[in-house]
Amino acid sequence: MSGHPGPELAIETAGLVKVFGDNRAVDGVDLSVPAGTVYGVLGPNGAGKTTAVKMLATLLRPDGGEAHVFGKDVVREADAVRGRVSLTGQYASVDEDLTGTENLVLLGRLLGHSRAAARTRSAQLLEAFGLAEAAERQIKNYSGGMRRRIDIAASILNTPDLLFLDEPTTGLDPRSRNQVWDIVRAVVAQGTTVLLTTQYLDEADQLASRIAVIDHGKVIAEGTKGELKASVGSGSMHLRLRDPAQRPDAERVLRGVLDVAVQLDPDPVALTATVNGRAGDLGAAEQAARALSELTASGITVDNFALGQPSLDEVFLALTDRNARSAPDDGAPGNASTTGVPA
Ligand SMILES: Nc1ncnc2c1ncn2[C@@H]1O[C@H](COP(=O)(O)OP(=O)(O)OP(=O)(O)O)[C@@H](O)[C@H]1O
Ligand SMILES: [Mg+2]
Repeated sequence: MSGHPGPELAIETAGLVKVFGDNRAVDGVDLSVPAGTVYGVLGPNGAGKTTAVKMLATLLRPDGGEAHVFGKDVVREADAVRGRVSLTGQYASVDEDLTGTENLVLLGRLLGHSRAAARTRSAQLLEAFGLAEAAERQIKNYSGGMRRRIDIAASILNTPDLLFLDEPTTGLDPRSRNQVWDIVRAVVAQGTTVLLTTQYLDEADQLASRIAVIDHGKVIAEGTKGELKASVGSGSMHLRLRDPAQRPDAERVLRGVLDVAVQLDPDPVALTATVNGRAGDLGAAEQAARALSELTASGITVDNFALGQPSLDEVFLALTDRNARSAPDDGAPGNASTTGVPA
């Protein structure tokens, strides 16, 4: 792989495939991850995130396609790849019965550090990760957030060139998530490239410069977070009406004003509209305000109103809907895996 213009690529895959039985867990994934950045891979349960990461980390052999990490083939040059990557995820490297310090020192020794160097590095990381007070406690007595942090600490004992973080904050409370986010930022500031998988749009938003959205083993959208957001809509407007009989009118008004699809929620007085940022230069809040005043002017009573970030569900609805609509023109059966997000 040579002659790429632009930045060095930490990861480059072409048509990457992994099949389990008749399940195409990863189904033709093309990724280009620039070095020195956080790249987000966003997808729901079972999308194929962990499977893709395991192939890139040389823990699983691809069934098709190619993957290179810093230009090295993950199959033919697996050792060279292993020398540059580290992985934190559902596979914990730490020992439950050892303390935080014992774990990090042991791993440091395994990595070839002297005892003194391993102790210094361990203390440094425990301090940096807010675990100094828990340093002499057994891991099994750590909270979920502390556990996640020690996992990451263990994976960066030797500063890797590429760190895979597989859903590092799933199940953490907001405070612990923020701590992990700070750690990720610090790791990247030291020059490490991070591939982060997550189910949370806001996490990808906080950390990643580029994001690939995957579903059913395929990349359904890819771009900077700005591009993705613009393509999906900048917010979701949730409305509850006083009178369910007014819902068809409300739907018509919202479609007219916002020029977007409106979803009718199961609750007969509720509906949701995506605020898309396409109506002139108005921001999401202004658009929502205009929609509300049009509803009032049409005699529709709104009891309750909320404007929020699109949920992951809404992102997926918007993206898969577009994917389905663009597929017939695609003319490339069996290879319609990627819908690029227009810049
Ligand atoms: N070792 C395996 N054997 C058989 N099927 C597998 C195996 N590993 C994963 N799968 C299947 O492959 C698909 C993708 O799984 P994967 O773990 O990659 O998803 P994921 O995106 O990481 O999901 P989650 O968010 O739940 O971690 C799923 O349908 C899963 O059941
Ligand atoms: Mg997973």
